[in-house]
Amino acid sequence: MSINNIKSPIPIHEFDASYATGGPVVSLPAECFTSEEFYRFEMNAVWGHEWFCVGRASDIPKAGDYYTIQVGDDPLIVIRDRSGSVNVLSNVCQHRGMLIVEGRGNTRRLRCPLHAWVYSTGGELISAPGLSDKEEESFNVKDVCLPKIRTEVWEGFIFITYDEELAPLSERLGHLGEQLKNYRMAELRGPEPLTMEKMEWNWKIFNDECYHCSYLHANSWGGMYPLPQCNVDESVKFNDVDRGLVSYNLISPHLDAAPTHTGSILQPAMTTLTDEERSQLSYVTVAPNLLIVAMPDKVKYFMWLPAGPQTSWYGVSWMYPEATLARDDFKLNYDKEHDDLWPVMEEDLFAWNGVQQGFRSRFATRGRLTSDELVIQRLQNWLIDKYRAEDSRARAADAPDTLARVG
Ligand code: FES
Ligand SMILES: [Fe+2]
Repeated sequence: MSINNIKSPIPIHEFDASYATGGPVVSLPAECFTSEEFYRFEMNAVWGHEWFCVGRASDIPKAGDYYTIQVGDDPLIVIRDRSGSVNVLSNVCQHRGMLIVEGRGNTRRLRCPLHAWVYSTGGELISAPGLSDKEEESFNVKDVCLPKIRTEVWEGFIFITYDEELAPLSERLGHLGEQLKNYRMAELRGPEPLTMEKMEWNWKIFNDECYHCSYLHANSWGGMYPLPQCNVDESVKFNDVDRGLVSYNLISPHLDAAPTHTGSILQPAMTTLTDEERSQLSYVTVAPNLLIVAMPDKVKYFMWLPAGPQTSWYGVSWMYPEATLARDDFKLNYDKEHDDLWPVMEEDLFAWNGVQQGFRSRFATRGRLTSDELVIQRLQNWLIDKYRAEDSRARAADAPDTLARVG
């Protein structure tokens, strides 16, 4: 991650046509999804200056539990220390750069496999063979620590930011937590820890909208739940574009409706929900990389991370109350629902892949967005605000230089 600000490689005024202000809006330029240079800019503009999700605290319940993730070029360790706090550390050994751990596991210490430097679960260096045992001059283990990334946990979701100046996460998401309080998300967990898979498309392609549902998913989703264009409500309370919250509800035909072969939820409804909550599916994007879907029986989340200009990591988890997870028929119903929705997922994967291929073409264009793509319009505005801010920071950093040259 570059710490220098970068000017937008696409002239910043080019984004005006994609910024919704009440008039017609077009898509972002295709280079935003393909270019290495733009990707570098965006790693600063978006990922360098916002809170983003890196998983769930319930995936590392015990002291010493950890998993690894990759954000762009940065391998990270998410680990629970002995005090119970969740730490997010760089996975890069401070000796000569080796990756310290892979996958997931439980450990009392983080030991680099290359020369056995050992770090605590808080990232502090404990020993370095050949240095700490020999009391080498001017070497003190206390001076070495794995870089620790600013971390906050919201409703069980672990968020990090590289920006030390950014307001606390609670200022951004506190209100949303209040609005979703009946789902008790902090207490929910998936039957398995989240796994992330590498995908061959840019991370922004995951941006959710439901304009496509009536068409791409007409025969899959459409056979289980009313097609969205007749029941999508994009003016829901969860929207707060300035805070990167973009949302819509699907209004259900009856209590506990869900996209399954029965047309209803297959697990028991959560007992803490109102009838209104049991009559809708709430889709809430927490930009840049988390989609929460609050349903009558569970909360799903979809999380993605950038891997390169045309690659990304993607994971999905369905979270339930403990009482649901403990039921004898939980797994049976879970598998049935998974089977019901698999065709929908396959259609999405087909479309995301196809869109990335299209963006690579010389004929890729900036098509007009429809009024049914309000979600995309809002997400574009949020992104463009980030692009403009980074471009201004880079220009401001250049300014004294320019003045000196002019003078
Ligand atoms: S690179 Fe890790 S101990 Fe040498
Ligand atoms: Fe879809």
